Amino acid sequence: MPFVAKTRTIFRCTDCGTAAPKWVGRCPGCESWNTLSEELNAGPAGPGGLERVLAAPPVPILELDGVGDSPHPTGVSELDRVLGGGLMPGSVTLVGGEPGIGKSTLLLEASGAWARGGGRVLYVSAEESVQQVRRRAERLGAVVPGLWLASDSVLESVILGITNTVPDLVIVDSIQAVFDPAIGSAPGSVVQVRECAHALVRLAKERCIAVVLVGHVTKDGALAGPRVLEHVVDTVLSFEGDRHNALRLLRASKHRFGSTSELGVFEMGDSGLRAVADPSGMFLADRCIGIPGSVVVPTTEGQRPLVVEVQALADKSTAPMPRRSAQGVDGGRLAMLLAMLDKRLRTGFSHCDVYVSVAGGVKVAEPGLDLGVALAVMSSLTGQVVPADLVAFGEVGLGGELRHVGHATRRLTEAARLGFRRAVVPSSCPKVSGIQVVGVDTFSDALSAAGFPSEVF
Ligand code: TYD
Ligand code: MG
Repeated sequence: MPFVAKTRTIFRCTDCGTAAPKWVGRCPGCESWNTLSEELNAGPAGPGGLERVLAAPPVPILELDGVGDSPHPTGVSELDRVLGGGLMPGSVTLVGGEPGIGKSTLLLEASGAWARGGGRVLYVSAEESVQQVRRRAERLGAVVPGLWLASDSVLESVILGITNTVPDLVIVDSIQAVFDPAIGSAPGSVVQVRECAHALVRLAKERCIAVVLVGHVTKDGALAGPRVLEHVVDTVLSFEGDRHNALRLLRASKHRFGSTSELGVFEMGDSGLRAVADPSGMFLADRCIGIPGSVVVPTTEGQRPLVVEVQALADKSTAPMPRRSAQGVDGGRLAMLLAMLDKRLRTGFSHCDVYVSVAGGVKVAEPGLDLGVALAVMSSLTGQVVPADLVAFGEVGLGGELRHVGHATRRLTEAARLGFRRAVVPSSCPKVSGIQVVGVDTFSDALSAAGFPSEVF
């Protein structure tokens, strides 16, 4: 139902910018549907804006020295790995993740480690009391002199707390729970989240404080609140994992001070998060040898090789629309591989239910997984077991050809370290000692190299 905006907010079309005093389903300007979003009514720009612009005149590039601030390590090794060394003073980092995944745990651990290293931290919990946070800190071994706690959700008192405590790291858990009563709308609304984030970003830059904002994500995995939140911060990290599994992955999707390709791996235990030094070993720990449908694939996440097990189950379907399920792998990619197999090898997957998953709840989004997925579904369909000491990786094209993927040497070295003896890979891959590299050009050649009988291909 349309409602009238409070005095300080208006509704603006995200497509054409037309402003309306109240919410309507269709923009009066461009007539698009559902494009109006609430925002602060800033009024016309005054001379203050112009003065601020003139205060920072352009500078010739040669007059600036190239040395900037260097990142300050948080003390949590996997977090520092993803951040490329640590948090930059004056930077704002947004950490997103589903409820209960461990965001508060991770940041309280980082706060403890930062304070132990001699820094001063203010941990503002807008959702829990200071006693609750203290109890968790005891469990995590984060009861350290330099760590200050506050339980506050009103923006002004959060800012006052920061200016009084003078910390060099501030955690705001969560940004959706912080609000400014002067803005008419409810806490957690688009305008509240955006304005509070803007105020904290300004404070971080002015006082050179590293600020970390915790953000909730919606069901489909996007950060709740306006997209603009991702634009105003310097770094966006996402904390992922399956809640029924102890494994947690930390990735950067935006990072102004470094690469976004690093991966942090943690295990959630009784006393908090523990860095996993050998994630491949962990992923393969529960592997059952000798079952059709299982193939081991050396993948890479950034600089880090990750050896995972792909499992598939394919069986004749009785349903008019066969079921397809892809967990940890891209569903569209799976459909393409199945269509290719049907066309080239007449496998009949269009009449089969097909389930594919990556063991351990990890998500892999890289083309190098293709060969492993295709071999796993063929193995399940035919009952032919893929040898336990064999790994496979490579992109599979629509013509059934195998294509080169990056970091081949790193993948092969990691597979050799874990004791695998043979690797079926695109023929352009280099040789690596300790593992027999079998280069192939087509998927049929790969089936042959993996020991499938010739009637299959
Ligand atoms: P939490 O950090 O509160 O998640 P978020 O802030 O992302 O909502 O962590 C919630 C879960 O983590 C909770 O279900 C309990 C579990 N947990 C542990 O298993 N061990 C621990 O030491 C802690 C602190 C939490
Ligand atoms: Mg929390």
